[in-house]
This record gives sequence, C-alpha cells and structure tokens, in this order.
Amino acid sequence: MKIAIGNDHSGVELKAEITKLVEEMGHEVINVGTDSTESCDYPVYGEKAARAVAAGEADCGILICGTGVGISLAANKIKGIRCAVCSDTTTARLVKEHNDANIIAFGARIVGAEKAKDIVRAYLGAEFMGGRHQRRVDLISRLEEE
Ligand code: RB5
Repeated sequence: MKIAIGNDHSGVELKAEITKLVEEMGHEVINVGTDSTESCDYPVYGEKAARAVAAGEADCGILICGTGVGISLAANKIKGIRCAVCSDTTTARLVKEHNDANIIAFGARIVGAEKAKDIVRAYLGAEFMGGRHQRRVDLISRLEEE
C-alpha cells in the first residue's frame, strides 16, 4: 500500500520510527510532513495527507502532531476523509473495521513510540467489515453533501 505520512514539528522523531516500521511491513511511504523541528502549522500537513488520500495517490494516511487532534481536525475538512485519533490499539482496529477510517492520527506527546507502532500495526492489520457499518459510513458521507 501507499501510505501518506504527515506531521508537524512535534512529530518529526516519531515519524521516522513509524516510517521505518511501515516500510519494513512492505508499504511505500509518501512523506508529506515536515522534517524540521522548527515550529510550524499542523493544518498544512493534515491537508497534504488528506488530499493525497482523497485523490487516491495514497491508500491511507497516518498523521502525527502533539496530540493528534489538531492535525486530524484539519484532515477531516477534506471531502472523503475519515480521520480518527487513536491512542490505543483497540480503537485503531475498530476505526478501520467499523468506520473505514482512511487516516489515523496520534499525538507524539500522548503516545510513546512503542504504543504508536502497535497502533499502526493494529490499524493496517484491520479490514473494514462493511454491512451495517457501510450504511453508517454512507450516512457520514451524506453530511458532506449539505
Ligand atoms: C503544536 O505545539 C501543537 O499545538 C500541535 O502539535 C497539536 O498538538 C495540535 O493539536
């Protein structure tokens, strides 16, 4: 899979670890984040990853900022994006199985590197279950048409 990874200054170190993991898992990383630890604006990188996923240039995305929240809020403004903040592996699995999240986000100041890697493994290892969940995802998509 092609995976867009975006981050602000707070996620530079963690991105390196996540990139290594994702590549070891056999995926291709599209780095749309900053590689500088100088303070920057997370919406810029949330948007970049979200646009890559929405355009089909990436199959899914991973976003990292201080909390994971700001960057996810930005990503969710892009049509077709369902970005979920995950701080545990159960959520990471369920946001794929139930919500068909096409981007996950987490906070470099919230989860450590090992937890973050487990979150990524849980998300990438999960599959959307469809069925009643598809109906609910469709209802979310309908909200974008208003
Ligand atoms: C940057 O200091 C911080 O606000 C940002 O990384 C993120 O946590 C916002 O939600």
